[in-house]
Amino acid sequence: MKNKVAVVGFGMIKFGELFEKSYEDMMSEAYLNALKSVDNGIDQKEIQAAWLGTCIGSIIKREILTGASLAEPLSFMPRPVSRLENACATGSDAFRNACFAVASGAYDVALALGAEKMRDVPPIESLQGVVARGMHPIYARGMTAPAVFAFYANRHMHDFGTTKQQMAYVAVKNHKNGALDPYSHFQRPIKLEDALKAPMVCSPLGLFDCCPVTDGAAAVIITRAELAKKYTDTPIYVAGLGLATDTFNLASKPDFTTFYATVEAGKEAYKMAGIGPDDIDLAEVHDCFTITEILDTEDLGFCKKGEGGKFIEQGNTEIGGKIPINPSGGLKSKGHPIGATGVAQICEISWHLRNEADKRQVSGAEIGLTHNLGGTGSVASVTILSNKQL
Ligand code: COA
Repeated sequence: MKNKVAVVGFGMIKFGELFEKSYEDMMSEAYLNALKSVDNGIDQKEIQAAWLGTCIGSIIKREILTGASLAEPLSFMPRPVSRLENACATGSDAFRNACFAVASGAYDVALALGAEKMRDVPPIESLQGVVARGMHPIYARGMTAPAVFAFYANRHMHDFGTTKQQMAYVAVKNHKNGALDPYSHFQRPIKLEDALKAPMVCSPLGLFDCCPVTDGAAAVIITRAELAKKYTDTPIYVAGLGLATDTFNLASKPDFTTFYATVEAGKEAYKMAGIGPDDIDLAEVHDCFTITEILDTEDLGFCKKGEGGKFIEQGNTEIGGKIPINPSGGLKSKGHPIGATGVAQICEISWHLRNEADKRQVSGAEIGLTHNLGGTGSVASVTILSNKQL
């Protein structure tokens, strides 16, 4: 798999409250941006297959989502389109499956597109129940995503002395980065004291510890590595892919200080790429809540277990730091339209690896990592990209 596939086009739309755009509008705009980004041009008929990542389409009462949900608005028929749902890893798993299909030789060129329409209904309708689905009804009572991640925050604070202030540093950094990203939902910096005194959502997580609920779409065009130079002089190669699962059931988790799916997905991706955490120049990780970014930093091996809070407080994850994390603003500031998130992370890393990330550019970036985590930590995916074949 390593070095067999390259990203040759990528694009997204500005994330936010997009009441004026339909699901189809968002997909079409992201797709056109990806087509336009292909330096040497591409005839859209060259794209032989597509993967659509949308997670919660059924909950917002759309018709059944199928491949045709992408094929019709994008005039893609009769070509094959698979629709994929894998919690918050939906977008990156759509990309991963498209990569496997291209690497197998089944297709020369494929599209991975993620889109999610979340703001047309209040968050309580789009998100409540996602976590508790399929479990005993007692779990639905307050068992929202902030409540699940609050378990992790409390336990990490108890075991390792992680502080509310260290979590607030994650929010301050990510809002600062988001202010430099024209695609971010929120585009203004926040102060540490604002994060600390924000209204409580689920103790200890306040408003600024949570990602917002957001609409958005992103698209990536991939091809076999040997064909990449036909489309661009600066292909981004897929060096490593990892996906892992863990128990969904909170009562079955061995502890609340590690996301084991992240650890396993990271191991698989690092092994495939033949590199380790020290070789990564920047990462877009799943900061659905500030505590999650702290755990991600540990679980992906950027610092030791228990030291994530301190590592962030010391500035190691700022743009210009030891390992810049979430230069886009992350889910916290850019937003988290679930199916689009993983694909948008691949766009962000690709901009940096092509030195096209403007004011938020991580200087000299050659290898980048993306990470998603979903369903109470029951699924995680890691992708490693490089601007040269490793
Ligand atoms: N961070 C910063 N500001 C936020 C915010 C966030 N996460 N969410 C909302 N805001 C701001 C809005 O911009 C708005 O500001 P304004 O009044 O100046 O326009 C205000 O707070 C109210 O916005 P609203 O959309 O009505 O918020 P809400 O109270 O309905 O929802 C949360 C707030 C935190 C509950 C909601 O964002 C949430 O559920 N986040 C978590 C999403 C989630 O669980 N995703 C899955 C992760 S696995």
